[in-house]
Amino acid sequence: MNQSDNLITLQSHILEGEAKHPGATGTFTWILSALALSAKVISSKIRRARLDDVLGSVGATNVQGETQQKLDVIANETLLRCLGKREGVAVVASEENDEAIVIQKNTGKDGRYIVLFDPLDGSSNLDTCGAVGTIFSILRHDPMAEHVDETVLQKGTRQVAAGYILYGSSTICVLTTGNGVSMFVLEPNVGSFLRVAENMRIPESGKTYSVNEGNRPTFEPGYQRYLEWAQANGYSSRYAGAMVADVHRVLIQGGVFLYPPTKKAPEGKLRLMYEANPMSMIIEQAGGKSCAGKTRILEIQPSKLHQRTCVVMGSPAEVDRVLSFL
Ligand code: AHG
Ligand code: MN
Ligand code: MN
Repeated sequence: MNQSDNLITLQSHILEGEAKHPGATGTFTWILSALALSAKVISSKIRRARLDDVLGSVGATNVQGETQQKLDVIANETLLRCLGKREGVAVVASEENDEAIVIQKNTGKDGRYIVLFDPLDGSSNLDTCGAVGTIFSILRHDPMAEHVDETVLQKGTRQVAAGYILYGSSTICVLTTGNGVSMFVLEPNVGSFLRVAENMRIPESGKTYSVNEGNRPTFEPGYQRYLEWAQANGYSSRYAGAMVADVHRVLIQGGVFLYPPTKKAPEGKLRLMYEANPMSMIIEQAGGKSCAGKTRILEIQPSKLHQRTCVVMGSPAEVDRVLSFL
């Protein structure tokens, strides 16, 4: 952001987008502003995590219901509270809830969107002050659907918007509504996300791979051969253990992020609908590629909400390189 640039908040950015769509009712704008509000609330809770004694490990080992204290549950509740009563939200679905939640079961003008999210991505990083994120995906609701699954289980190509918030050394939001990728930084003193980049482009290539190499012995031979090749060719390895942080690095600096099938997770670990799809939409909108083996992730027809997938995403040349080994 140059000193001379206008200050544009996320709110104004969204309104700017709405103004380009004659006939827009503002519903979508309300949903994005609810997500921005959740991000600010979650960010402030994360920044105080140790002080407020809400770190994850307490609940994670307790069977007396103390899991309610965990930050990923708190983040989930924050999103549900912010989205719950917004006009235009028909269904929400979260990593933290078994089933999609129907908010408005109507066929009229309300209840037109489905919002899916991973409230806190990489939450095992919290105890060590590592980066965590929030990921969201927005789909259009089919009011004629008889069962909630019928409206929710849509391919990633049908997303109307996707984004993530990275709670790192600063809190940033990266957003696409299908017309390029923009980035915003939370100005904590003002309490607003300010736009710092538009039309972001991922570098065409980058000599960094991001994968949990502890799983390497159980990767299929193609992935193992790729890693041997990358190491022989001067590649660096970077892995934060939070998809949002790892994919954000790849978006900014180039390279490839992988989560291949493993013995523990033969279909891959990451969830298709609220992790892989939104991150894939952003990467593709920035000029990158995203595949599950040789299939484009955004074209996978989901058969269940919490479906998992393997992932190879990032700079186009690096994704092609991985695929050439498979
Ligand atoms: P979540 O915290 O939402 O369950 O997601 C964690 C995911 C993802 O963020 C990350 O890329 C991956 O798990 C890390 O898994 P490993 O620890 O198996 O590498
Ligand atoms: Mn996650
Ligand atoms: Mn999560």
